[in-house]
Amino acid sequence: MTPNAARLEGLMSLHEKLGQLTMIRADFGNAGAELGVAKLAQIRAGGAGSILDLRGLESIQESQRAAVDGSRLGIPLLFTLDVLHGYETIFPIPLGEAAAFDPALWQQTASAAAAEAAAEGIALTFAPMLDVGRDPRWGRIAESPGEDPFAGARFAEAKVRGFQQGDLSQGATLAATAKHFAGYGAVTAGRDYASADISARTLEEVHLPPFAAAVRAGVAAIMPAFMDIAGEPATAHRGMLDGILRRRWGFDGVIVSDFCAVRELIVHGVAADAAEAAALALNAGVDIDMESGVYLEGLPEALSRGLVSEEQIDAAVRRVLTLKARLGLFDKPFERGSRPLSNSQRQQHRALAREAARKSIVLLQNRNLLPLRGEGGHLAVAGPLSDAAGDMLGPWHAAGQAKDAVSFLDGLKKALPGWRITDGASLDAAREADAVLLCIGESASMCGEATSRARPGIPDEQHRLAEDVLSLGKPVIVALTSGRPLIDPWLFDKADAVLATWFLGSEAGAALAGILTGAVNPSGKLPVTWPYDAGQIPIFYAQRPTGRPAKPDDHDTSKYLDVPVGPQFCFGHGLSFARFAYGSPRSSSKTVRRGERLLIEAEISNEGDVAGEETAFLFIRDPVASIARPLLELKGFAKISLDPGMTGTVRFELSADGLSFPGAEGEPCLEAGEVQIFVGPSANRDLLKSCTVLVGKDSS
Ligand code: NOJ
Repeated sequence: MTPNAARLEGLMSLHEKLGQLTMIRADFGNAGAELGVAKLAQIRAGGAGSILDLRGLESIQESQRAAVDGSRLGIPLLFTLDVLHGYETIFPIPLGEAAAFDPALWQQTASAAAAEAAAEGIALTFAPMLDVGRDPRWGRIAESPGEDPFAGARFAEAKVRGFQQGDLSQGATLAATAKHFAGYGAVTAGRDYASADISARTLEEVHLPPFAAAVRAGVAAIMPAFMDIAGEPATAHRGMLDGILRRRWGFDGVIVSDFCAVRELIVHGVAADAAEAAALALNAGVDIDMESGVYLEGLPEALSRGLVSEEQIDAAVRRVLTLKARLGLFDKPFERGSRPLSNSQRQQHRALAREAARKSIVLLQNRNLLPLRGEGGHLAVAGPLSDAAGDMLGPWHAAGQAKDAVSFLDGLKKALPGWRITDGASLDAAREADAVLLCIGESASMCGEATSRARPGIPDEQHRLAEDVLSLGKPVIVALTSGRPLIDPWLFDKADAVLATWFLGSEAGAALAGILTGAVNPSGKLPVTWPYDAGQIPIFYAQRPTGRPAKPDDHDTSKYLDVPVGPQFCFGHGLSFARFAYGSPRSSSKTVRRGERLLIEAEISNEGDVAGEETAFLFIRDPVASIARPLLELKGFAKISLDPGMTGTVRFELSADGLSFPGAEGEPCLEAGEVQIFVGPSANRDLLKSCTVLVGKDSS
């Protein structure tokens, strides 16, 4: 903490301390977000330390003035917002961007978002969201990096680096918040906010690694999840917050509750009143109470009942002031916002949004229809998402505006000047066309928080439209907009080409057009398994083995009577206009011991007739261990660009630790014996090539 901030601590009254632990939300009037008279008075009285959801430089600076010039101690406010996938320039939703499997891109889009948000006075974002998402019923899977803990960990590091850029005080940065700690993706039956029951092993292996990576990367803040784990709400979970985060991982940043989550401890049934709720959260390690006001209301009473100590309050205040100091707020409270973005920076961000959107599109299916051939023709564009610029922005669009986004229709008209493009809401247009682009899926309001769906498919009306269009016998391309895998085996059976277009952001139309015309070769790969049927959920590639693996003709095996056991598309699936062939992986050494590393190489050839970029995955399988290991575990991914006819080598570094699994306290257990290494284009076992290495016994 700076001397300035340290000096303050000694001067603060209890109310002023609790104010620093209190985040209040902007009011929403006709003119948008603002701080009303009552909240400005609360700030002047030292009763609030951070603000949520206030936007607009003028309002932010006016409120900052109320704190800096109008309050007794002049402690600056921390302005916070959900900047998840862009601020003004909107990038693809995290699940979409995860499909790019490109840490450099993940980092760049976070930096761009940070620069834009910081220029408007925002200092902290509630991102990255790092919940491992294995349940497409859960609407928040849209905000997640997908089903895999290893990929999630790489996403976490890239996002934290991108937002924070090493030194938070240098202006164009945002303090990052890793959320929602932890296991939120495992809510019962995919129902948002519902209880989760997670084994210690699954927590260690699946849900914690992205958060551990964020902490290693220096994330400034952590937000506990809304739900409870087997009866212990994450907001009051001592074992998780104090035990794992603070003690095991040494996290000394700020823990900020989710919205009203401290008061909700009463509804959860673990606290009788505000004093108990406040004490439970503070004792577990929560520093900032977002919006519930329970710290202000309940902590004085909790102190007098002896439920909390003044030292605990002081420690939380110190962490909050330290963050403000790291952000440079004490020295230059008005610095953020004093340097507006240049036009060329804005243009660079738009170009980045286009690149990110292109790399996020996953070509799920292509029966020789794409790219569109010929100089001209008639393309009918149909479906409610064809000209829906606003929906392209997805669930968290911060300051992004529909008027600045490129719809699919607009993008195609620009990219295909020689073509007749009709917005074929009517079937007649489709009937006359040479090909139809059907834009269906979810609207932006159908994904994100509180958007669980028991049947995550294509809405009925749109499904009927698809039936009508597909019955015309024309070539049909489907652009599936969604925040989750949409289940519809019928569609995949009938349509010639299907692209997962997620919510692609400001440059959605330009990106899709680039791929349809072949100007860009698709390279996105699924960061999440695409189920065949909702009854298979949760379905993910890293299943554990069963004693009775599925066999079609053997009744007593692990399968369904009514649907296939496998998914519609595997984790990692994604087609290209090129055709890649994999050679078998080679390891730099046949054996590996604790502390050592292996270099794994595999050759890939482009046997197609266009250049393309391939993402190769490295999985491992430990066939005999004291704890049965998953059938496949991702341990690396690498990209290679190849011209037609070319062969290149992908390289992966694999440490012995990567071959271990967590013990009871999360410590790595490395067991001697054989480990299989697989390299290939997806988690489809039939497409993987393998070699084996031997983990040697420890010499000690
Ligand atoms: C609730 C959401 O769960 C969380 O992700 C978000 O950051 C807060 N609201 C603030 O908007």
